[in-house]
Amino acid sequence: MTILVTGGAGYIGSHTVVELINSGYDIVIVDNFSNSHPEVIKRLEAITQQSITYYNVDILDKESLRQVFTEHQISAVIHFAAHKAVGESVSNPLKYYHNNVEGTVSLLAVMDEFNVKRIVFSSSATVYGFNNQSPLSEDLPTNEANNPYGYTKIVNEQILTDMTIADPEWSVVLLRYFNPIGAHASGTIGEDPSGIPSNLMPYITQVAVGKLEQVNVFGNDYDTPDGTGVRDYIHVVDLARGHVKAVDQALNESKLAVYNLGTGQGYSVLDLINTFSEVNEIEIPHEITDRRPGDVAVCYADPTKAREELGWVAEKTLADMCQDSWKWQQNNPQGYQAGNMNG
Ligand code: UFG
Repeated sequence: MTILVTGGAGYIGSHTVVELINSGYDIVIVDNFSNSHPEVIKRLEAITQQSITYYNVDILDKESLRQVFTEHQISAVIHFAAHKAVGESVSNPLKYYHNNVEGTVSLLAVMDEFNVKRIVFSSSATVYGFNNQSPLSEDLPTNEANNPYGYTKIVNEQILTDMTIADPEWSVVLLRYFNPIGAHASGTIGEDPSGIPSNLMPYITQVAVGKLEQVNVFGNDYDTPDGTGVRDYIHVVDLARGHVKAVDQALNESKLAVYNLGTGQGYSVLDLINTFSEVNEIEIPHEITDRRPGDVAVCYADPTKAREELGWVAEKTLADMCQDSWKWQQNNPQGYQAGNMNG
C-alpha cells in the first residue's frame, strides 16, 4: 500500500518515512524543499536501503499534484507540508494562511478528484492556546491560538472535520504534536533549522557544537517548580511511530479522530539543559533573560486516548532525546548543507 507523504523531506516527515517503510508501506514524497534539503533523500535511501520516490512539487500546484496521483495508486496521505516558524507567522501572516491553509485546500481538492479520502494531518498542541490547563486532553476547546501559525492549525482541523461531515467516506486523523526533539539513531537525519533556531533543543545543540554562545532561558518567574517553562518533549521517532498507527487506523475505519502525541510528562527548560549536559558530558552556558511573548508556562499532554485507541505510547526517555539530538548535531555541524556527513 502506498502512502503519499507531503513534506516528507522535513524533520518529522523524514523520520515518519523511515517508520512507514519499516512497517511495510510503500511511500511517495512530495516536497518543495522550501525548508528542507534534497540531501535528506539520499540519507533516507541509506537508512532504508531502498530507493525513495520523491517529487519536487508544491502542494499549491494542483496540476503537478494530479500528475503524482496519476502515476501512483495512493491509499492515504500524511500531510506535513507547512511553514512552522511562529515568529514569522506573526510578521507575515499571509504567507502562513496562503501556504498552510490554501495548500491543504489544494491537496484535498486533488485527493477528492482521485477518490483518495484518507488523511493523517500534522496538527499541534498550539491549538490548545492559552486558556486550557495541562494535562491537555483532546476534548478541550481549541478555538483560540496564540499566533497565526496556530490559527492555520485550528483552521486546517476545521476544514478536515468539515470534509468528514460532508462526505462520511472521508477518514481523517488529526495528530496534535507536543514538542518533538531527538533524531534517528543513525545520526544521519535530524532537525536542521534555517538561520538561528527559535526552538530550544536545536538552540542547545548549536551552543554545544560552538555555533552559538549561550542559551537564553526565556524567563524563570513562571508558576512552575523551577520557574522556567514546562513542555512535553517527545522523541521524533516515537512521534513518527504514532503516524504509522494513525495511518493504519485511517485505512481501516472511515471516521474523524483526534489524538495528542506526547509523553504526558512535563520537563522545564532547565531540566532539558541539565539532562543534555549530563548525558552528553558537555557544558551548556545559559543565562536567564526576559520571557518570550506568546509563551505559555506549562504545556503537556494527556496521552491516554492515543494509548487506548491507537495502541501507541511514547517509549524513549529525555536522556535518549538528548543523546540522539547531540549525535545528529555532532555528525552534521552544518546540517544537511555540507552534503556528506562528517565523522
Ligand atoms: N526557550 C528558551 N530559550 C530558547 C528557546 C525556547 O528558554 O532559546 C523555552 C521557551 O520559552 C519554552 C521552551 O523553551 O518554555 C520550549 O520552547 P520551543 O520554542 O522549543 O517550543 P514551544 O513550546 O514554544 O513551541 C513548540 C513548537 C510550536 C508549537 C508549540 C505547541 O515550536 O510549533 O510547541 O505547543 F506550536
